[in-house]
Amino acid sequence: MAAAEVLPQPPIAPISSLQPVPAPSAAEALTPLIQSTYRTSELRFFVNGRSVVLSNPDPEWVLLDWIRAQDNLKGTKLGCGEGGCGACTVVLQTREKGRRLKHIAVNACLFPLVGVDGKSVITIEGLGTVARPHPLQERVAKMHGSQCGFCTPGIVMSLYALVRNSYQDGKFRLSASDIELQGHLDGNLCRCTGYKPILEAAKTFIVEDLKGDLIEETVSYPLAVDDVTDRLPGTAANGGECRASSNGSCGRPGGCCRDSSRSSSKSSVGETSSQQSSVTQATSVSSNGKAPLPKDFAPYDPTAELIFPPVLWGYQQQPICYGDGRKIWFKPTSLEQLIQLKDAWPSAKIIGGASETQIEVRFKKSEYRVCVYASDIEELSRFEGPQSDEELLALSEVSIPGNMSLTKVEEVCVTLLSKLGPRASALEALAKQLRYFAGRQIRNVASLAGNLATASPISDAAPALIAAGATVAVRTKKEGSYDLPLSNFFVKYRTTHLPANGVITHIKIPLPSPETLEVTKAYKQAKRKDDDIAIVTSGFRVRINEEGIVQQATFAFGGMAPTTTVAAKTQHIVQGKRWIDSNTREEAISALLEDFDLPFGVPGGMAQYRKALTLSLFFRFWNESISELGIAPLDHKPVQEIHREISTGTRDHFVASGTKVVGREMPHLSALKHCTGEAEYVDDMPQQKNELHCAVVLSTKAHAKILAVDWSIALKMPGVVGYLDKDSVSRENNNWGPIRVDEPLFAVDEVHSHGQTIGIVYAESVLQAQAAAAKVRVTYEILPAILTIDQAIKAQSFFEHGKQLKKGAAIQGSLDGVFAKCEHVIEGITKLGGQEHFYLETNAALAIPHIEDGSMELYASTQNLAENQIFVAQVLGVPMSRVNMRVRRLGGAYGGKESRSTPIACLVAIAAKKERRPVRMMLNRDEDIATSGQRHPMQCKWKVGTDANGIIQCLDIDIYNNAGYSLDMSGAVMDRACTHIDNCYHIPHAWIRGWLCKTNTVSNTAFRGFGGPQAMYFTESFMSAIAERLEVDIDELRARNLYKQGELTPFLQTIDIDFHIPTMLEQLSANADYENRKKEVGIFNSKNRYRKRGICKIPTKFGLSFATALHLNQAGAYVRIYEDGSILLHHGGTEMGQGLYTKMCQVAAEELGVSVDQIFNKDSQTDQVANPSPTAASSGSDLNGMAVKNACEQLNERLEPYRKQFGRDAPMSVIAHAAYRDRVNLAANGFWKMPRIGYKWGNYKDPLPMYYYFTQGVAITEVELDVLTGDHTVLRTDIMMDVGRSINPSIDYGQIEGAFVQGQGLFTMEESLWTRQGELFTRGPGTYKIPGFSDIPQIFNVSMLRHDSSGNAINWKHLRSIQSSKGVGEPPLFLGSTVFFALREAVKAAREMNSVKEPLVLNAPGTPEKLRLAIGDEFVKRAAVVPKEGETNFFVRIEE
Ligand SMILES: Cc1cc2nc3c(=O)[nH]c(=O)nc-3n(C[C@H](O)[C@H](O)[C@H](O)COP(=O)(O)OP(=O)(O)OC[C@H]3O[C@@H](n4cnc5c(N)ncnc54)[C@H](O)[C@@H]3O)c2cc1C
Ligand code: FES
Ligand code: FES
Repeated sequence: MAAAEVLPQPPIAPISSLQPVPAPSAAEALTPLIQSTYRTSELRFFVNGRSVVLSNPDPEWVLLDWIRAQDNLKGTKLGCGEGGCGACTVVLQTREKGRRLKHIAVNACLFPLVGVDGKSVITIEGLGTVARPHPLQERVAKMHGSQCGFCTPGIVMSLYALVRNSYQDGKFRLSASDIELQGHLDGNLCRCTGYKPILEAAKTFIVEDLKGDLIEETVSYPLAVDDVTDRLPGTAANGGECRASSNGSCGRPGGCCRDSSRSSSKSSVGETSSQQSSVTQATSVSSNGKAPLPKDFAPYDPTAELIFPPVLWGYQQQPICYGDGRKIWFKPTSLEQLIQLKDAWPSAKIIGGASETQIEVRFKKSEYRVCVYASDIEELSRFEGPQSDEELLALSEVSIPGNMSLTKVEEVCVTLLSKLGPRASALEALAKQLRYFAGRQIRNVASLAGNLATASPISDAAPALIAAGATVAVRTKKEGSYDLPLSNFFVKYRTTHLPANGVITHIKIPLPSPETLEVTKAYKQAKRKDDDIAIVTSGFRVRINEEGIVQQATFAFGGMAPTTTVAAKTQHIVQGKRWIDSNTREEAISALLEDFDLPFGVPGGMAQYRKALTLSLFFRFWNESISELGIAPLDHKPVQEIHREISTGTRDHFVASGTKVVGREMPHLSALKHCTGEAEYVDDMPQQKNELHCAVVLSTKAHAKILAVDWSIALKMPGVVGYLDKDSVSRENNNWGPIRVDEPLFAVDEVHSHGQTIGIVYAESVLQAQAAAAKVRVTYEILPAILTIDQAIKAQSFFEHGKQLKKGAAIQGSLDGVFAKCEHVIEGITKLGGQEHFYLETNAALAIPHIEDGSMELYASTQNLAENQIFVAQVLGVPMSRVNMRVRRLGGAYGGKESRSTPIACLVAIAAKKERRPVRMMLNRDEDIATSGQRHPMQCKWKVGTDANGIIQCLDIDIYNNAGYSLDMSGAVMDRACTHIDNCYHIPHAWIRGWLCKTNTVSNTAFRGFGGPQAMYFTESFMSAIAERLEVDIDELRARNLYKQGELTPFLQTIDIDFHIPTMLEQLSANADYENRKKEVGIFNSKNRYRKRGICKIPTKFGLSFATALHLNQAGAYVRIYEDGSILLHHGGTEMGQGLYTKMCQVAAEELGVSVDQIFNKDSQTDQVANPSPTAASSGSDLNGMAVKNACEQLNERLEPYRKQFGRDAPMSVIAHAAYRDRVNLAANGFWKMPRIGYKWGNYKDPLPMYYYFTQGVAITEVELDVLTGDHTVLRTDIMMDVGRSINPSIDYGQIEGAFVQGQGLFTMEESLWTRQGELFTRGPGTYKIPGFSDIPQIFNVSMLRHDSSGNAINWKHLRSIQSSKGVGEPPLFLGSTVFFALREAVKAAREMNSVKEPLVLNAPGTPEKLRLAIGDEFVKRAAVVPKEGETNFFVRIEE
């Protein structure tokens, strides 16, 4: 189609009749330009080496939309759609100057499709296949770098860009520093693995040990960024600190002398000899920043990589224009063309990296109808540096092109800094801000112009640039080029002085002369160090004269006002003062408090913390600047920020004895499929004929009457087929619920929570359905909402529960008598926020109706096929036998898809039945978070009595959970909480009550640990309180209170011989050299004022079984042997990354005496195994493993005559064939129900056990806290778990590490926040932070219990579990709290130094804000903000 034909008609609204002279429409204004310049509407590019020509594509599409529309490119995933998870990462291969190639990882979910023109796109499919994997894919797979696999293609692609950029000019340069410290993986999240194995797999590519030539670092001129990129210290293409090269060969394992020396310095992180000894205690995993490469891995040959398509070397960019009546895209090729366009149509939206604009389109529904892609315009993206040494020395200003990518800006800054030294400290400050700006994929495309034009108050670039005195070069057609000082650029919130028709061409940063005494620095504090928006972000510059008098000072802050702003009074006050004088510093600190007198209810909250941060950051700058200016012999190290080192760690490689297949380490059977993108998830299934797509209409109010719903506009939208709501199903069929059927599928008359489903719209495409759903108008009458636990208690708003545990005196009556005899009675309230599951694959389902018999096949991302089946049958009005629920794998679940997946399956089923067409839906990330519930926020009011030695006598406790608007599984979660409040301690007299608060929040649900972690956190909190009150060492207190064999839990279950906690405490203490390190922490703390360390050792015990739903403790399996000896396995469990299928295949292989690859565990479906229990409660292997074993035993019995006949080692093909010919049934149903258990609440006389056994563990964690900001790093964690006789140790190590990191997130980082109106604010990776690559413990050692205290091997036969193994999915999660409790110790040390005497009350999550404020020093006190009458915090925490 000719470009002019695709013009919108018109792109913006017609002119109002009040205007006498109608202005031209966009069509009128732009048509002449299009006709003269934009002669094509075709995009030409390559994908995985194949040429693609797209003629006039859908203008709404981002790159991911196009990729996922291709049947053979489903490996690139949609995880969030906002650049925050990296699941959509693809690599753009681009040509650079000098016939060099660059590989740029980008987020396909944001990248404008127009931007691929002239580029080569590489997706995960372009690397390799399961049959022929790329070495990266193979190593990540075989080194256990994937679990659910949904994040894996994105992570492999980020690594791919790094590895490919490491090869230039025949040399391969990659270091552990590149992999871990330069932020190449900071745009990728994984919720399963705990990251460690991924890093280890990546480190097998380090080849600096290959004794290659050192790369000479020379600068040639002209200095253009393309030339300098791979010379820069710490950039993608070089080896960071260590720059040896392999001379072309790479991919080999081995140790490097350089690494050894670095690793020994690494070992000094904890500064103990024991760390070194324990690092070497185990075998395979990296101890020096590198991982050894197993022999069977293919070597990496960089010369065998996908080449750049030759035709693209000479590709000439053409001006492009395409679109339709709604939206039009331009791609000018020169600045001149862009200026002309902006002149002709000033409201045309310039698109740089689209990292801001696409977010606005997606979440704010901004309609940019004329878009202009500017990133490929050379004048806006190409840096022209000094041409010679003379020019370099004379440089007085650096002019950064407006749309140059931030990665390149960072590289330019670092290069110039290395040449110019201290006078380029402004560039150093900017580079530092950019290192912690977004994730790598965003930095690879986003620009300074985009950042400044957005005028975000938390821009990270603006404070550094304002401090540096930067100006913005603007160009318009009429005015030409002119400069605007950045200090005057921002007008108000998200508004600048940039004229509508203006283009930012450059950002100019002045450089002082070499003799000027000047320092510029920048600091940022966020919830997470990597890829997070700032809480406070800042830039400081001071210039002094020879006498040390301040000549100029600029202190710029983001996060303190509606725009980036300067501390005007503070700047003024230091002017003319001696910078080094402490009086100057103190006056400045006082002035800062005046500059930023934030009100308590400031938007975004955290008023006191923000104020305290401004003081702390200024204090840090003052110290560092004095040191760097050389005006005083101050050692600035004590006030420096915390820096992370390269991570290391071990696994102790457990091997079970007496078995052939079980007990062996073996990669996840789908690992290679994950890594190659061949693993299929629900939304990857091929498009069905006639398929429709659904989108949800969700409540935007927490509690309201629905007055009217108007879907008429939605129905008129293109492609829309229908709308369904409460009137589409009968009243009785509209309700569902896992325990009590109390939740409507579609809201009826009232909404009880923000995010409740009101209706669905379905259309021919996903984008059409979503666009239409956004047009459904709902009118509400607001009703009062209850959000928090305190509000619910006040209003007595509870769900019925009524269960309690009584032990000792409580059974007879009151605990008063026991408390009266206690030496110490302590009371307190402890709180813990909720946690979002953040599985990478959001909820999805596909319904395929069979018209003939009313049956339906449903594919759903669910842990609970049976519950889905029950309610789908209900809404369809058919018996359960007509519904086949299926799932092959889930992209993570962690409990979040146990019940909350049910409504999704029901909704698509209703639509599919109505339309008689297949219907699919996958929730967007924000929809998923808003609808699917979280870990229960909890609050606990406790009263504990002890004797004089701190031995607990008595516990009286009320536990409250915030259940949300429906019951879901809140009762069962509370049951588990009540039964885990003992953790590992004996409590003779206890009365434990649980309360389920009914509120107007999302309905909270199961999450790994199911109430157990919350309860054990309460236990450890009151243990800390006892220790502090009695001034007893906390470890000693724990030891005194540990269970002994024969004692009873509060639910009257006997602690038996399987209690290994004392042994593990002893063994782990010795392995981790705990006592010595504890002393060293004390010494460190006595010597350091602004950094504190903390260390702690905590045990855990987790009960296994569906505790109070006895009927769920059963499983079925179906094993079929075909006459060729191959075996098909089905069981009731689902595969969600935990390796269940792998373990089940191992069990079947062991039982049947075959190899694992003879077993095929195809998928899970209710047609194969009826009434499956949810895969939950860590019991998947126990229940299904026993059922598989049972089926195999039946088959073995039938095959026994043939084994006798053909010999024990005869192949299954021979045996099965003979049996078949003899008409032996080669299919068997296995079944198992868990024996022994059967607890009944209220039976205090002779109760049966609640749990089949307890999985146990101990962790020791050491942390370092930045006292000035509340930031921290985990120096080291050692875990020992008792998981019995592990079926597959490598999978279990992965579960332990992954659960620990998830627990770390729960207790220190993840924070769900609600607005006062009851809207869940934290609905995506932008606002809700889970741990990333650089949050995991720097040293991370994991081991499994093998011996008792006397060194005798433990065999766990007494368990009578599958292969004597123990469930492992949930139990280690609580150990993540060791990070919190170690931080608590560090905070205590800081408080002690600041003479803070009051008992410490610190609630989890221990965010930087909470930690910083808990320190209670002078800055915190001075930053205090008193709420005015009626003033409330901006956000609500619903655990409060
Ligand atoms: C996941 C994520 C993380 C982020 N993290 C951070 C962070 O840590 N710190 C931070 O500060 N920001 C962050 N951002 C915000 C954003 O990435 C930055 O503001 C970025 O610099 C925007 O650049 P862009 O080129 O992508 O802008 P675009 O989205 O392309 O454009 C943004 C605005 O700038 C205008 N514009 C672009 N180029 C020009 C030009 N040459 N002349 C005139 N106007 C122009 C556009 O018209 C538009 O109004 C993040 C965003 C995302 C999605
Ligand atoms: S889907 Fe693109 S970053 Fe998450
Ligand atoms: S394997 Fe990374 S999210 Fe599941």
